[in-house]
Amino acid sequence: MKPLFFSLLFVSLLAFKEAGTEQDFVRENFSYAKQQLDLMLKDAESQKKLSFPRTINAGGKMVSTNMYDWTPGFFPGSLWYLYEYTKDKTLSAEATAWTEKLEPLKTFTGHHDLGFMMYCSYGNAYRLTGNPAYRNVLIQAARSLSTRFSPVTGSIKSWNVFKSWHGNTTYNYPVIVDNMMNLELLFFASKATGDTSFRHVAVTHALTAMKNQVRPDYSTYHVVCYDTATGKVVGRETAQGYADNSTWARGQAWAIYGFTMVYRETKDPRFLKTAMGLAEWYIYHKNLPADMIPYWDFNALEPGYTPGERSNALKVKDKPRDASAAAITASALLELSGYAGIKGNAYKQAAEKMLHSLGSAAYRAPVGSNGNFLLMHCVGSIPHNSEIDVPLVYADYYYLQALTRYRDLPGKK
Ligand code: GLY
Repeated sequence: MKPLFFSLLFVSLLAFKEAGTEQDFVRENFSYAKQQLDLMLKDAESQKKLSFPRTINAGGKMVSTNMYDWTPGFFPGSLWYLYEYTKDKTLSAEATAWTEKLEPLKTFTGHHDLGFMMYCSYGNAYRLTGNPAYRNVLIQAARSLSTRFSPVTGSIKSWNVFKSWHGNTTYNYPVIVDNMMNLELLFFASKATGDTSFRHVAVTHALTAMKNQVRPDYSTYHVVCYDTATGKVVGRETAQGYADNSTWARGQAWAIYGFTMVYRETKDPRFLKTAMGLAEWYIYHKNLPADMIPYWDFNALEPGYTPGERSNALKVKDKPRDASAAAITASALLELSGYAGIKGNAYKQAAEKMLHSLGSAAYRAPVGSNGNFLLMHCVGSIPHNSEIDVPLVYADYYYLQALTRYRDLPGKK
């Protein structure tokens, strides 16, 4: 009896020490993030009032965008996560100010990214403050996003037009896998209002994507193009990946995250099966490096995969990593680990490894460098010859979200 008691005590003490160590890891990362984002706030405020941090230029200086790009919600969202961890009132004031600049977007219908733009900013603002004005902004934004849904295609239209990398073909109803992320705003609006039409749009979009965007082996197409009149699939191509038949790392990350979130909101086992299939395709892939930070595309430079004739991917002969895909995937896996039964532990361990790689000197920038962004070595779009091996504001956002989810895992208190 006694030896058993002492070995159990020893194992529990080890587990306690382990949990403590991981909380120290999270704490150190948030303390680092506070230093970087304080510097970024100063820099961002010295720029024009309505421009939102996104990346850096060749000289290492911050590049920002106007609010109509797809990324303005991530800087306010990062400030909200940092406030949530630190409870620093100055940060909540900054997060509020940066969030409220985006209010005009509530009626924006120009592309599908309203979910990213508003749910990462106003969604976190409402979650942490309960301010009813924010709830109303989110509901109006969901109405605007819903205008891009067609019952004929069963999808929300991503971009108004997509020009193929092959020849001069253009498509008028492109849907990209990233669009799964925008559905969270619709689920929120449905719960907030009791209006199930938002939920209907989200579930229909997810079912269509499950059928047309996810391949039988659980890898993903980036862009699926529909015939507006018949709803038939007329093209499956890539915009930001290496080739039409390859798997763009961030696209797969969006899919893992998106289907996990749709399972959370619906409890439909088809979405869980899809999320787990997508996740396992990613974490057990032969081309995923040992540090679990993917190359920008799982099939870059492989035989059997050919970029379109106009794609800049034809010119790139190395394989940059994409830390943004890793940050998104880590965050998704931490949520999925809670739904996946006995497989959950493997997903959690994979996420843990990704977070530790991202938090190492290989990917996390020294304080005051990297334009004050947190993570280095991300890829925006190689086909467009844009944002290659740079920091990206959304990598930082999902890194902070993943650290928050990691802190909150059962047993990690
Ligand atoms: N949603 C655009 C991207 O992931 O680059």
